[in-house]
Amino acid sequence: MAFDRVKEILSQLTKEHIELLKESEEIEKQLEENFSEEAIDRALKFIHEKVNKHAEIEENDLDEALQEAGITDFDIEALNFGHRTLDEIAEHLEYLADLYKKGERKYRGRDLQKEIAKTFHEFAQTLKDHFTEEEHFFFPDILKYDLERFE
Ligand SMILES: [Fe+2]
Ligand SMILES: [Fe+2]
Repeated sequence: MAFDRVKEILSQLTKEHIELLKESEEIEKQLEENFSEEAIDRALKFIHEKVNKHAEIEENDLDEALQEAGITDFDIEALNFGHRTLDEIAEHLEYLADLYKKGERKYRGRDLQKEIAKTFHEFAQTLKDHFTEEEHFFFPDILKYDLERFE
């Protein structure tokens, strides 16, 4: 049944949420307590490789599985909107990281190191809120389509 694929993806995504939040907390701690260029790179790699890959599964694989299950009226854009917000914070983080690597230590008169840690904290917080929204609203909304079949 095509809906099984949808369920499978949702359960994989939910598992990934736990792993991603765990790593984002670790990076947050590293940036706050043990700041280094290595910590910056870890943060950027985490975003580019892991968080973006996760978002792509939602935007592509999940979307495709929904189509295949005949669910055409779920608003996937609502889910994608959260990803764009994360992208914007990530862009700012990249900008600050570049400044730091060029040897700058201040950003608008403030300590650049603290700004980087603060920006990653904002990313981590937004990520957490986004995952909560998915698990509490979007994913249950999708699962409702399965129940409706038996009504
Ligand atoms: Fe997402
Ligand atoms: Fe997600």
